[in-house]
Amino acid sequence: MKKLILDLDTGIDDCLALAYALGSPEVEIIGITGTFGNVQRDTGVQNSLALLDLFGRQDIPVFAGASHALQRSTFDVQEASALIHGRNGLGNVQIPKSNRQPEHAPACDFLIESAKEHGENLTLVATGPMTNLAQALEKDPEFHNGCQITIMGGALTVPGNCNPVQEANISQDPEAADILFRSGTAITMVGLDVTLQTLLTYKETAAWRQIGTPAANYVAEITDSYIQAYGTIAPYLGGCGLHDPLAVAIAIDPSLASFFTTNLKVDLSEPFRGRTIGDEQRLNNPHKTVKVALTVDAERFLKEFMHRVSTCLLYTSDAADERSSV
Ligand code: RIB
Ligand code: CA
Repeated sequence: MKKLILDLDTGIDDCLALAYALGSPEVEIIGITGTFGNVQRDTGVQNSLALLDLFGRQDIPVFAGASHALQRSTFDVQEASALIHGRNGLGNVQIPKSNRQPEHAPACDFLIESAKEHGENLTLVATGPMTNLAQALEKDPEFHNGCQITIMGGALTVPGNCNPVQEANISQDPEAADILFRSGTAITMVGLDVTLQTLLTYKETAAWRQIGTPAANYVAEITDSYIQAYGTIAPYLGGCGLHDPLAVAIAIDPSLASFFTTNLKVDLSEPFRGRTIGDEQRLNNPHKTVKVALTVDAERFLKEFMHRVSTCLLYTSDAADERSSV
């Protein structure tokens, strides 16, 4: 079974990505690393711990990572993030707090150590700003040791979701994403090109409510607020974008997408700061390092999504208590 690390800025679609991964028999999550983004880093870390409790996976360690972009010393949550993910990152739904604490080691050390230990058997999926990955690369340029890295971020053939060129995760730390793309590390990019083709509606959250567990009810409520926010910011879509779960899904099963292989960079100066685009200096370099997902089998993904997330939402502490008393 492949080992998986999720690098999250735990907002609503990060929560769905976690549920997708926990419902996937092909992978074993060995840790979650947390970053700033949809919320402050520490809020995201607490959200990850609380969600792991809700899903009955208190065995998975959580590591705190970057609290701000590489070239900044502070971070303020953007109003758009608060609108989409709620002030607490989970649609302002209050899920029970965890009694657990994050581990002592910093996220980037956990990434480096895990890649050293598991090499090609490790998959990293980053669904927030790329700062933790850039810090790991700065500490050890070869840290990846053959592991598979998939990111949710960027937009190659469609406009951004922050401004005409910026996707949110890249916009939070363009320098970090540029370090990652230019490092020569093999990356799969799952950007808005495909994530805005995979949508969820109230019909699916109603199906989760039928499951009847606390996990299912909380996640349905959290996701309803996300669908509602999408109804305000992008009513033409007819649902909410499943950005982060799609990145996990493609990392597990690349046959869900088709790819364009190229060498990417991030524009760092205005007027196109934060744009993901081909690196003109490596255009003729035959060694292409980034696979950009450009088409997706949205129907098959949605089927997998409902099956895997529902499997995760079946958990109740009552069922766990009954199992352990047998
Ligand atoms: O652009 C979508 C991305 O930005 C998702 O990862 C979402 O969680 C936010 O971080
Ligand atoms: Ca995210």
